Amino acid sequence: MIYFDNAATSLWKPPEVEEAVIRALKTAGNAGRGAHEPTLLASRIVYDARAKLAELFGVGNPSRIAFTCNATEALNTAISGILRPGDHVITSVCEHNSVLRPLYRMEKQGVELSFLEADEKGRIRYEMLEPLLQKNTRAVVITHVSNLTGNVTDLERVAVFTKAHGLWLVVDASQSAGVLPIRAEQAGIDVLCFTGHKGLLGPQGTGGLYVREGINAAPWKVGGSGIQSYSREHPADMPAALEAGTLNVHGIAGLGASAAYLLRIGTDNVWKQEKELAYRFAKGVRELPGVTVYGDWSGENRVGIVSFNLEGEDSGRISDLLWEDYGICVRAGAHCAPLMHRALGTEKQGAVRFSFSHKNTVEEVDFAVRAVRELALG
Ligand code: ALA
Repeated sequence: MIYFDNAATSLWKPPEVEEAVIRALKTAGNAGRGAHEPTLLASRIVYDARAKLAELFGVGNPSRIAFTCNATEALNTAISGILRPGDHVITSVCEHNSVLRPLYRMEKQGVELSFLEADEKGRIRYEMLEPLLQKNTRAVVITHVSNLTGNVTDLERVAVFTKAHGLWLVVDASQSAGVLPIRAEQAGIDVLCFTGHKGLLGPQGTGGLYVREGINAAPWKVGGSGIQSYSREHPADMPAALEAGTLNVHGIAGLGASAAYLLRIGTDNVWKQEKELAYRFAKGVRELPGVTVYGDWSGENRVGIVSFNLEGEDSGRISDLLWEDYGICVRAGAHCAPLMHRALGTEKQGAVRFSFSHKNTVEEVDFAVRAVRELALG
């Protein structure tokens, strides 16, 4: 089997992740719920993972990071927590449903939405930012990387706009965390939502959000926190404000270990290796008859995602053949990014998506190119 579905979830995890999860399973109590050794150990695991993630994301105060069970929960928390009826939000057609659906739900409650369009290569039309600005614009909610094209958003450019107009910049880092360099504070990112199980190489069921000092996101779930138990209100201080209920300490232990691994080897190295594999693969398949590769390949600012189609072929059929005849794992069909598919003109066909890990090899990539060639040549 060759696994090229890392944008859905990374399969390879650093060995220390497994060790940390198993150790926590056997030893951790409930974080923040007492003073005996197992609960203190759990609190230390959570503290340590928070600190590692803060270092990875360029955040000075780790307690501005709250844990969630995935990026979807983080985005729901952010979007419902900071927007109010009457606000206007600028977002883009490159978004995943984890951004779109919480925004559409807010739209029903009186939040106005405007969309930055993208061209046929999935490049965002940043020149639309200024014309879309309204008196009530509150935030730009935007993905760092399209899960379909692998294009990287020019966050620097967006941050200049949000800063100039006093807006919040909310970033979906689902496909970039652990791969692209992120210095949230320096980059003017106000809220950063991430998942633990993709580029961060941690377990599924982990994720979180960074909320900058000065923004109070209202929690969408409230309950036990281990503190202020006699209050009718959930604590307002971060991170407890956004962490009601028992945390996934076993998963967080694994995420802390994977963050430590990434800090040790450097995300620059991860990015470079994934990109090299992606460019090699794209170059190999682009020249085949009937193949269309999507996305902007004009520069080097991409991640390890390559989506393509074979003319006249349903993407699901191609991914089935890749698995059944070659043992290659990819994702096909619609990728929970309906507006991006519309912009690319792939609504009907979907797209075959290869997404690489830094642990994939050149030999695996070359094998995949040969497989696609055989399918293309019939
Ligand atoms: N959002 C994940 C993907 O793009 C699951 O495949």
